[in-house]
Parts: sequence; C-alpha cells; structure tokens
Amino acid sequence: MPFLPSSAHPLPRHIAIIMDGNGRWARQRFLPRIVGHRQGVASLRRCVQACAARGVQALTVFAFSSENWRRPPDEVSGLMGLMGKSLASEVPALQEAGVRLRFIGQLNALAEGLQAALAQAEAQTASGQRMTLNVCLNYGGRWDIVQAAARLAARGETITEEALGQALSLACSPDPDLLIRTGGEQRISNFLLWQCAYSELFFSDRLWPDFDEAALDEALAAYAARERRFGKTSEQVQPPVQPQDGQAC
Ligand code: IPE
Ligand code: IPE
Ligand code: MG
Repeated sequence: MPFLPSSAHPLPRHIAIIMDGNGRWARQRFLPRIVGHRQGVASLRRCVQACAARGVQALTVFAFSSENWRRPPDEVSGLMGLMGKSLASEVPALQEAGVRLRFIGQLNALAEGLQAALAQAEAQTASGQRMTLNVCLNYGGRWDIVQAAARLAARGETITEEALGQALSLACSPDPDLLIRTGGEQRISNFLLWQCAYSELFFSDRLWPDFDEAALDEALAAYAARERRFGKTSEQVQPPVQPQDGQAC
C-alpha cells in the first residue's frame, strides 16, 4: 500500500536524492556502466511519478556532479548523450503530468547543443503546477555557495544568511525536508551543502536502478517517524498530551 500522509505522519514537501549505484548495478550483470545509467533514467521516471502521485511538491535529483568530470571520457560522453536523449523521451510525459523541469548547476560548461535542449525543456514544462523536478547537472554544493556569494559581492550587497540563501541556485524551492542516498554510501558528495543543513537523511542500500515505489515508501515512513527539532527540545515540538474527560491529571 502506498505511503499515506497524515498530520501525525507528514509528507516531505521537498525530497532530494543522490541517485547512486548505476555502475555497480551494471557491473553485477557484466554489462557496460552506461546500461546502468540507462536503467537509472527508468528508475527516475518511476520515482517522479510516485512522488507526484503522493503529493510531493519538489524533487531535486543529483544527475552529474562537478566531480564526475573525473570519470573516464567515454563514460562522461555517454552520460551527456543520455541527458540529451532522455530529454527527448521524457519531456512530453512530464508536461502531461504537470511536472515543471528545472536544471541546476554550472550549465554554461555543458555543450551548447545540450544547453539549448535544457532551456527548451524548461520552457516546455514551465506551466507545470503539480511538482517541480530540479535536475542538478554539473552541480557542486561548494560551487553553489561561491556563486551566490560572488553574486552578492558583485551587487555590493551585504552577505547575510537570508541574502545568501536567496542567491543560491535552488532558492525557488524550500530546503529539502528529506535527503535520500541510494547505493549504500553514507556521504553527501558535495550535494546541497547549504540547503541540507536540517534535512533528514535516509541512506538506502538499494542501487538506484532498483529503488522502486516500495523503497520510496520505506524512506517516507522513516521520515514520518522522525522528530524534527530544529534546535528545540522534544517537549517544545511535541503537542501537549490532552488529559481525557474524567481522568485524574
Ligand atoms: C550514480 O551512479 C550516477 C552518476 C554519478 C552519474 P554511479 O555511476 O556513481 O554508480 P556506482 O557508484 O559506480 O555504482
Ligand atoms: C554522487 O555520486 C553524484 C551523483 C549521484 C550524480 P558519486 O558516485 O559520484 O559519488 P562519490 O564520488 O562516490 O562520492
Ligand atoms: Mg557512485
């Protein structure tokens, strides 16, 4: 049964995912790594549909990190080719489902043809109201903080927490409530360093191509059972227990 949110079991408004494990998924099957990445796209399609169906407002996924350029050139070019192909195959369904696509990262370092395709996909889905899908491409959390600080400095603005937060590349979405990483590693790998300051972390041993709806619901249930205190005490965030009629207090 899909996860059912309630006031006692809230749904994260914004989920961020480090989609890790494509290469190992392929290697386990003696297949080239790119086959794992293709399966990763299929897994993302399922995950987007499942998140939208459950009422998640924003989903942010790590598709290519600023460090992933260090991979063998054929894997990098395979991944870039897959991005372009996936746009062509996925955008019509996203448009239909009311999902707005946004690309986050240092996009000007990507091939011009790909940049144009990204801009076109954003424009085609701009009216989507159901959910926003932020795809982080050539993204690094340190880069994001530096570009935000540089923007403020160029405008001669004072650097405050609020101003910096507004200058970050994900300022249009609330901070992620839940950060999921698949593939068994328990690290952030330079993802949303600023924005995940208070996110609940969920690490799954499943490889990303195997991360299905049941695995998502497991993460949602774990999130719902967490107590988010934001520095306060448990007593401060828990609603007081009401004594029932006729019972001695
Ligand atoms: C994540 O899967 C996808 C990208 C980084 C592009 P990996 O390719 O890192 O998979 P593993 O970690 O090698 O299994
Ligand atoms: C993080 O995965 C980046 C993406 C999922 C796009 P990596 O596989 O690159 O992370 P590390 O290098 O193992 O930390
Ligand atoms: Mg990896």
